[in-house]
Amino acid sequence: MTQHEASTDDANFLRIDHVSKWFGGADRHAGMQVIDDVSMTIEKGELAVFVGPSGCGKTTLMRIVGGLDQPTSGTVMLGGEAVKGPDRRKGVVFQSYSSFPWLNVLDNVKFGLRFRDGLSAREKDEIARHYVDLVGLVGFESFYVNKISGGMRQRLALARTLAADPDILLMDEPFGALDAQNREFLQVQLLDIRERERKTIVFVTHDVDEAVFLAERVFIFSARPATIIEEIRVSETLPAKRDLKVKDSEQFLHLRNRIQAVIRTQARRTEEEMLRVAARRR
Ligand SMILES: Nc1ncnc2c1ncn2[C@@H]1O[C@H](COP(=O)(O)OP(=O)(O)OP(=O)(O)O)[C@@H](O)[C@H]1O
Ligand SMILES: [Mg+2]
Repeated sequence: MTQHEASTDDANFLRIDHVSKWFGGADRHAGMQVIDDVSMTIEKGELAVFVGPSGCGKTTLMRIVGGLDQPTSGTVMLGGEAVKGPDRRKGVVFQSYSSFPWLNVLDNVKFGLRFRDGLSAREKDEIARHYVDLVGLVGFESFYVNKISGGMRQRLALARTLAADPDILLMDEPFGALDAQNREFLQVQLLDIRERERKTIVFVTHDVDEAVFLAERVFIFSARPATIIEEIRVSETLPAKRDLKVKDSEQFLHLRNRIQAVIRTQARRTEEEMLRVAARRR
């Protein structure tokens, strides 16, 4: 492969091509369209954030990218291969906790390592402890999941997914249930992890500040059925290396206000649509 071809592959690491999704049949009377012809490419190592009104189809798109659901039409390619189902290349961290109650914190993280070949038990232990440290769970290694808080469970789910060393991290409101302080702690950790490991990350959030702080690119989705209405290259405005101080900068506030205004318009559209549906039923 020539160098040129290799870099083209990296530029198209994740390729979503004309994806549409209907639930209950692709027909306006029987079914409901949730995604409408969405296309995008995400570079290897990029951090892309999806924002959009509630119920517009973000989780559905993430599930399709993760291989957990199929598009009605269109394709998703990851690293040049069609996404057919879930596998180890795709690490998924969704808002609902997904850790094993019968394992303690350290063993939950080790569980993420089970498919990594060529590691001794000692190396697995070291890697697991590294991620436990990274997400701030040192001291809780021997605690069972039902003995740690919801926020800690989210940290644990992140540590376990990272330990599996996936090619892409799909994170759907992973910090949604955290208080502001925990949230900022994990935002900073995530940027740190990304810089060190050059992970490709797709992140969904309702928190516009979180979106701007984390993203290289923000994709703003329309009300359902989801289309991309705007793509904002945050990295053209904010520095690549960010700390929490950036949140006080004028550029940051300008970006967040701009995104917020677009989302507000879309949310209003959703409300109007719901009122129309209710009126028709009456
Ligand atoms: N399996 C399913 N069967 C039928 N409808 C579904 C299914 N999954 C999701 N939907 C519908 O698809 C629409 C989009 O849902 P989705 O969860 O993707 O939205 P979202 O953008 O993630 O919302 P939120 O921001 O609130 O998480 C909703 O109207 C939802 O009811
Ligand atoms: Mg969702």
